[in-house]
Amino acid sequence: MEKYTYYKAYKGNIIYSENKNTMISKDNSYILVFNGQVKEICYELPEDFPKENIIDFGDRLIIPGFCDMHVHAPQFLQRGIGMDRELLDWLNTYTYPNEAKFKDADHAKKIYTLFVDELIRQGTLHVNCFPSIHYEASEILFDILRERGLFAFTGKLNMDQNSPEYYIEETEQSIVETERFIKEHIKAGEVKASIVPRFSITCSEKLLSGLGELAERYEVPVHSHMCEAVNEMKVCKDLFPDYKNGAEIFYKNKLLGNTPTIMAHCIFMDEDVLELMKNPNCMAVHCPDATSNINAGGIMPVKKLLEMGINLALGSDIGSGASLSIARCIATTIQHSKIRNMFDPQWDAVTLSEAFYMATRSGGRYFEKVGAFEEGYWFNALVVDDSNIYSEDINPLERLERFCYMGDDRNIVRRYIKGKEIGTQGRF
Ligand code: GUN
Ligand code: FE
Repeated sequence: MEKYTYYKAYKGNIIYSENKNTMISKDNSYILVFNGQVKEICYELPEDFPKENIIDFGDRLIIPGFCDMHVHAPQFLQRGIGMDRELLDWLNTYTYPNEAKFKDADHAKKIYTLFVDELIRQGTLHVNCFPSIHYEASEILFDILRERGLFAFTGKLNMDQNSPEYYIEETEQSIVETERFIKEHIKAGEVKASIVPRFSITCSEKLLSGLGELAERYEVPVHSHMCEAVNEMKVCKDLFPDYKNGAEIFYKNKLLGNTPTIMAHCIFMDEDVLELMKNPNCMAVHCPDATSNINAGGIMPVKKLLEMGINLALGSDIGSGASLSIARCIATTIQHSKIRNMFDPQWDAVTLSEAFYMATRSGGRYFEKVGAFEEGYWFNALVVDDSNIYSEDINPLERLERFCYMGDDRNIVRRYIKGKEIGTQGRF
């Protein structure tokens, strides 16, 4: 049998991040894929490569699938409303009543199906989901993510205080159900169970320490919000006077840094919190859409965190973000960093290379081998046809940039996970 019988060669303008400062751009080249994994990128195919195994995308761009590392699945239908509110007001007025509806499994199935389809449509192939408190709905989300083949973390949300009576749990039950969720989902392929305390102010110390023990015992990742808004931090201080800040609450309860720890926002971080977040097990997720809609009070100092070597990713954070497009999030990250730079010139604006790295390779670091096209990486890829916004005198990197600023999901013409094409199921 010929060596290349089971290979595929995808031809196009190939782009991925080598690191935060270096984007690899290989024009008119082939990605050779075997068993769903990248073997190499070459400009010319080996002579004995079978013609029928070539998939020629011509002048189109081939890029890694995006990583959305903080997104609230049950907030899919509340996008774009209540955007003039402040965080705590928005949670009480819009978010808690909306999430409470996921007690109904039929509702969960319908909305989570639409949500996952929209993720895929927007080119997000790797996702870190925030669920609701309901066990059954959380299981439904887990199953849909797995059926559609995504790489994902998801769990069951925890909140046992400071929450409305229609959307709150008993402490013990919250811990017991979380343990059950982990046990029943721990060995499930590319979708992995995580522990998801909403944020410090909706969780008692007893709940947090119970969850910390579970994280340690089962070695599961933790996903939460931290240092997000001025009001939230004031409430946190009142509720937990013995702790210095929100990060210390998580840290002392074994929820920060023991296992992969993915913290959304991280806008207001003192030096000691920055030190904690330097741990390679920790990742801060910048959610620029949510920052301008709901957080109010500051913008994450992305450049500072990058230079400190803190792991960074991007998140859509719907429904405080409105769009599931991580391409758009790349553009907004750069825009916000420029606004921040006006008020704090000490830190330069973020480059395209840095923002794209956060959206792909850096965001994907806690999944196995995703977000780039080096040997051994999964061929989790998007094919971008930008012919409607393309002019011939710009190079592929500029075309990628233009797609982020001006394109949308209609420009994504193919999506691959582990070398298999996956489809979208249509709009509703
Ligand atoms: N903090 C606690 N819950 C939430 C939420 O649903 N969205 C955002 N942006 N922040 C939160
Ligand atoms: Fe959030």
